[in-house]
This record gives sequence, C-alpha cells and structure tokens, in this order.
Amino acid sequence: MNPVEQLAQYSTGHWVSQMVYAFAKNAMGDAFEGQVKSSEQIANTCELEAQPTYRLLRALAPLGIVKQHEEQQDHFELTELGSFLTSTHPMSMVDKVLLEASYEHVLMWTHLAEYLKTGEMAPSKVFGLDNYFGLFDARPEHVDVFSKAMSCYTNDEVAMINAMPTLDFTGIEKMVDVGGAYGALLKAILGKHTNMQGILFDQQAVVDRVAPSEQMAVQGGDFFTNVPADCDGYFLKHILHDWDDALCATILGNVVKVMKPDARIFIGEFGPVPGPNEPHLSKMFDLHMMICLNGKERTMDQWTTLLARAGLTVKAVHQSFGPLCVIEAQRA
Ligand SMILES: C[S@@+](CC[C@H](N)C(=O)[O-])C[C@H]1O[C@@H](n2cnc3c(N)ncnc32)[C@H](O)[C@@H]1O
Repeated sequence: MNPVEQLAQYSTGHWVSQMVYAFAKNAMGDAFEGQVKSSEQIANTCELEAQPTYRLLRALAPLGIVKQHEEQQDHFELTELGSFLTSTHPMSMVDKVLLEASYEHVLMWTHLAEYLKTGEMAPSKVFGLDNYFGLFDARPEHVDVFSKAMSCYTNDEVAMINAMPTLDFTGIEKMVDVGGAYGALLKAILGKHTNMQGILFDQQAVVDRVAPSEQMAVQGGDFFTNVPADCDGYFLKHILHDWDDALCATILGNVVKVMKPDARIFIGEFGPVPGPNEPHLSKMFDLHMMICLNGKERTMDQWTTLLARAGLTVKAVHQSFGPLCVIEAQRA
C-alpha cells in the first residue's frame, strides 16, 4: 500500500467500524443460519431495506466477513471470520462490537483532537457527565451493553489467564472480583477451583442484574469507599486503567485496609506498555482510557511505583499469548 492509500485507509477507519457495527446490531450474522442466502432474504429476516442491505454485504465481502457469489451476485455466505459475528459462536464478538463501535464510544473518540489541547474528558465535553460511568445513570441501557462487552473481553482473556504458566491460585479460599461486571472472570475461576468461594463486587446497578450462586456471592458498592473484607484474593481486571494514580491509590488502599494479611492482589491489564515502536494493544487502549476517564495503561515502572504508593510490592508478572498481563502484588 502506498502512503496515500495507507493514510486514506486510516482516515476512514470509522467507516469500517460502522459497517461491522451495522452488521452486528441488526443480527445479520445470525440471519445466515449457516447457509448461502440472498441479500433480500437477509434483509427480510432482519427487517431491513433490500438495496442498502445488498450494498453493505457487497462492501463487507472484501473485508472477509461475507463471501459474495461470482454468478448469483445477490447471494452471500458467512465466512469463518463472519461467524464470530453470530450470537451463537462460542467466542462471539457481537457484544464487543456493540460497545466499541457504539454511538457513545464513537462520539467520545471525536473529542481526541480537542482533548490534547484541553485535557477535558470526553464524557464531560460530549455528554455533560463527570466521567464515563455517569453513562450508567444517564443511559441505563448502557449498563447492559457495557457489561456484556466486558464478558466478551473476558471470554478471550480467560484463555490467556489459563495459559499463564506461573499464575497459581493455590491457597486462595475466597476471591473478590473487584469491579467484576457480570462476573465472567470470577465464574471462570470458580469453575476451575471448586473449593474456592467468590464475591462479585461492582456498582449496584450492575450486580442487580447478576444472580448469586452457592459459590458466588454478589455485592453492590463503591470501591472508592470500601470493598469486601477478610478475603485472601482480590482480582482487579481492567479496573486500575480506568483511573489516574491518585484514584488508583484510593482503590488499592481500600483493598489493603481490609484484606487478610497474606492476601494476594491480581491486577489484569493490557500491558505492561512496552518500549518505543513496539506495537501493543495497550498503546491504543491507553488513549481510550485517557479520553473516557483520564485513566491510562501503565509501563512496568509505573506499576511498581503505583503499587508502592499503596504499600504493595510486585510478587510476579504473569503473561501468556495475548496482550493481557496479570501483575500479582502483596503487602510490602
Ligand atoms: C472496565 S470495567 C471492567 C469489568 C471487569 N472487571 C472486566 O475486566 O471485564 C470496570 C468496572 O468497574 C465498575 N466500577 C466503576 N466504578 C465503580 C465503583 N465506584 N465501585 C465499584 N465498581 C465500579 C464498572 O461498573 C465496571 O464493571
């Protein structure tokens, strides 16, 4: 690709994201039912207009999501890639697409250029909210969109966590999933460690939608005030990247205050952010956290400093095949 083509592609990235969003939002992947279908059949099933549906499918074919038939050109089939955009795929990406390409997220990203000048958070500028999580009150339907997307991220990340050769939960009797959304991570951990008990802790509006089980209690609350006490494991996945260092120190301080003396804290994040020029999801996600919450992804040095501020020391850094790392910390 020459520079003109490359930059043209970068500048129209939102076209691609909206094409994928339109496909997922209208459940078009499910409408294929594993068969070759005409665009009109897909349009009928999804209650869409026929011509725009044809034009979207035609444009999605070069992206590898569907395959357009050479002879019957109004006929399409789902590819292997496109099958991840069905609700029934075990690693379905639908919920992640519905969050990341949502109106709210796209609108906030349009604020990046101005953020560089003002440092004003996108939710404040765009929606008049204090921070990203204000969306949960302002648009209650966003709670479900967001939390389902978190489960979708977690499905992928559980495989990474299970593949971390040095990560071992032996000795942990009670694990808290701090800010655990719908509990996908905690349920996966408890499923593997049947003698462990768990507490799913998140905002009340989130945990109201989760049923407890014999192994998993559910507790609503605010981690800036307190977290469940007397446990020996605390997992914070994609929590600290949301917040600046001072707010992270408050959250960690609240954990340290009430945890058992020999408890371990597991921090799951994209990273640590690697050195110059090395591609890593954390470098892009860092911008997302910056505009949404003044949060950030951190280098290993930044993690060590932050943890020391809360009276903690790094016990181990666990990694496997993906962009997620788990930093294990304990009292210094
Ligand atoms: C980025 S999500 C991470 C969710 C989950 N840990 C995961 O990795 O899939 C952040 C979570 O923190 C929760 N949260 C935000 N502010 C909170 C607060 N003050 N107290 C408790 N939970 C909070 C949100 O509701 C959300 O579920």
